[in-house]
Amino acid sequence: MRHWTQLAEASIPGSDKSIFLIQGKDDFFIKLSGGLELMNTRKHSSEDALGALPCKKLRHPESARVLIGGLGMGFTLAAALSALGPGAQVTVAELIPEVVEWNHGPLGDRSGRPLDDPRTQVYVGDVADLLREKLACYDVIALDIDNGPEGLTKSNNSWVYSEQGIIATMNALKPAGMVSYWSASADQGFTDRMKRCGLKVEEVKIYAHGNKGARHTIWLGTKNMPC
Ligand SMILES: C[S@@+](CC[C@H](N)C(=O)[O-])C[C@H]1O[C@@H](n2cnc3c(N)ncnc32)[C@H](O)[C@@H]1O
Repeated sequence: MRHWTQLAEASIPGSDKSIFLIQGKDDFFIKLSGGLELMNTRKHSSEDALGALPCKKLRHPESARVLIGGLGMGFTLAAALSALGPGAQVTVAELIPEVVEWNHGPLGDRSGRPLDDPRTQVYVGDVADLLREKLACYDVIALDIDNGPEGLTKSNNSWVYSEQGIIATMNALKPAGMVSYWSASADQGFTDRMKRCGLKVEEVKIYAHGNKGARHTIWLGTKNMPC
């Protein structure tokens, strides 16, 4: 007997691929055309860490401004909100409008409905637009828009991880602001690129779930304060 149901499909803007929302026996999954699993509701320790680690390092979490890209299943957003205070503002940028709907619907309970938090604002569109446009705006930027520094979901995503994208991200951060990046695997080239752009880099390995199995990579990059 089949233990999963496809609940919905959404096309990825700027790409010829789609994503699928699937309900399994106990969990939800989001898969890419071709079957690659992008996310599930069971294993999200590294997604939690992506939001929590930089926000916990903030000197003024009560009033911080944070940008998260993208929403996915809402775990990074929820973890950031938990580490922030009542006056914080968090913008979550999500490329696919249906992902936002799914989080208002069946997925929302799994992450504690962070979209309903009054500190959350949703930007439906490409996070790269905000990175290009904003200057000295955010204390933290947490980026998990792909499987890692190579653009798998959408080829244009590679720009975010390029030197130009990293520099735009640094410009969007306030002085001493922090960026965190998620990746399924380590990438020495990306570590070196962050350093070349002038970020102070810390690389952390986090188990996807509990304390065994696959470990994901999170880079924390801190912008140096001007002397
Ligand atoms: C791996 S998931 C994020 C998982 C998320 N960290 C969580 O806690 O569930 C990637 C998300 O980024 C979105 N996305 C992909 N490219 C994007 C872009 N350029 N701008 C904004 N969102 C994007 C995808 O639609 C997807 O929802």
